[in-house]
Amino acid sequence: MSGERKVRLGVIGSGKGSNFVALAQACRDAKLPAEIAVVLSDVAESGILKHAVDFGLPARFIAPGPFRTKLDESAESNYVTALREARVDLVVLAGFMRILKGGFLAAFPRRVINIHPALLPAFPGLASWKQALDHGVKVTGCTVHWVDQGIDTGRIIAQQAVPVLDGDTAETLHERIQQAERVLYPQTIGELIRKGVVKVAVA
Ligand code: GRF
Repeated sequence: MSGERKVRLGVIGSGKGSNFVALAQACRDAKLPAEIAVVLSDVAESGILKHAVDFGLPARFIAPGPFRTKLDESAESNYVTALREARVDLVVLAGFMRILKGGFLAAFPRRVINIHPALLPAFPGLASWKQALDHGVKVTGCTVHWVDQGIDTGRIIAQQAVPVLDGDTAETLHERIQQAERVLYPQTIGELIRKGVVKVAVA
């Protein structure tokens, strides 16, 4: 029955996994009323999978298929199956470097979120911290948003501003944005759960 178990998160990423670690720590310390049911990656040697193993969580590499920026049809279906088998209530993208298409999103309607290292709708796409520096903005930040079929275009849920400091390099700015992400992502998911926006699926 609904409410008898914790909300189950399925985390998907391609990279070092610092957001995943923040989420896993928040779940472990009961700051986030959820549990991580499965961690999936399209990169076999990714940091996120290694961290998941260190946390003792189920972690799987699922081959993405031949395309560079999206999953092919059979890969997409493998991801959906793995998330369904893990009875995931919310799909949490944490540095997943591929665009998710309609088939995946239809399997998890309004249940896929992402974090982006800029104040959307400014600077979507890659290396947003560098885009921010190149434009000379004085404030950038990070955004948690619902995922739709566009690139970082889904409805915004929460944002955290990060000032650009004199002398910032791409590396120093990126690191401060990532520090903000590690606070904002667990906090925002916690709020979505506490407000009942994200719930335990009844089935
Ligand atoms: C984060 O900066 C996130 O905003 C972006 O990808 C990065 C993932 O970093 N979508 P990590 O793998 O969580 O360290």
